[in-house]
Amino acid sequence: MSSDPENELASVIASARELLHWEETLGGTGFPAPKAASPLQTPLGEPEAHEGDEDTVARLQVLADEAAECARCELSRGRTKSVFARGTPDTDLVFVGEGPGFHEDQEGLPFVGRAGQLLDRMVAAMGYARDHVYICNIVKCRPPDNRTPLPTEAAACAHYLVPQLDLVQPKVIVALGRCAAENLNVVPPAGRWRGIWGEWRGIPVMPTYHPAFLLRSPQFKKPVWEDLQEVLRVLNRKAPNR
Ligand code: URA
Repeated sequence: MSSDPENELASVIASARELLHWEETLGGTGFPAPKAASPLQTPLGEPEAHEGDEDTVARLQVLADEAAECARCELSRGRTKSVFARGTPDTDLVFVGEGPGFHEDQEGLPFVGRAGQLLDRMVAAMGYARDHVYICNIVKCRPPDNRTPLPTEAAACAHYLVPQLDLVQPKVIVALGRCAAENLNVVPPAGRWRGIWGEWRGIPVMPTYHPAFLLRSPQFKKPVWEDLQEVLRVLNRKAPNR
C-alpha cells in the first residue's frame, strides 16, 4: 500500500468507480446494451472487417461446414443448426462456453440468448467491440434440455474445438463456467477453480463463472470482474474509463 494518503484515496476511488461501472454494466442500468442486430451475427466466413487472414478464415469455414453435417455423437440428432462461432478470428481474446441453448440452436450462433446479452456487456466493459472477440463452445450442438454435455460428447466435439482454437491462436482464452474449464483442463484437482490461470496448448486460460450463472446469482459479478481485469492485465489493456 502507498504511504501517500492522497494517492491511496485516488486509487480507492478509481477501483470503486471501475466496480460501479461493472455493476451497472451487468445490471443493465446506466449502460447501453449492445444492439441486438450487430454485424457480428454473421456466421464466420462471410465478408466482414477484421475477419483474419484468408487462410485462417477458409480453414475455419471448412471446420464449420463439417460441423454442420457432423454425426459424431448423439447431440447431432436433436440439432436445428450447429453452432460453430461468432466474432473474428483476428483477435487476442477468445471466450469458450459450454454448448448452445435454444436460441443458439435456432440461429446457429453462440451466445445470442440472455446469457449472450450479458456476455456482450462483459465484453463491452472490457473495452472490446462486440465483433472484436471470438466466441465458441465446447460442443457445437445443443444438448437436450440444455444439460451439461457428457464427456463423450465433449470428446467427440474436440475434433472441432482443438483445430478451431489452434487456428485462432488468441493470447488469452476465457473459459466460461466449470464445464468449459474442465474440458480445457484448467480445473485443479482440489480447491477453487475460478480465477486461477491455467494453460491450454500454451495459451493462458482464465476460468470464470458462466454468464447464465451470473443471471441467477448476481452476487458473483464482482469476482468475475476481477477475473476479467486480470485478463486485461495479461493482454496489456485497460478497461475504459467512463
Ligand atoms: N451458453 C453457452 O455455454 N453457450 C452458448 O452458446 C449459449 C449459452
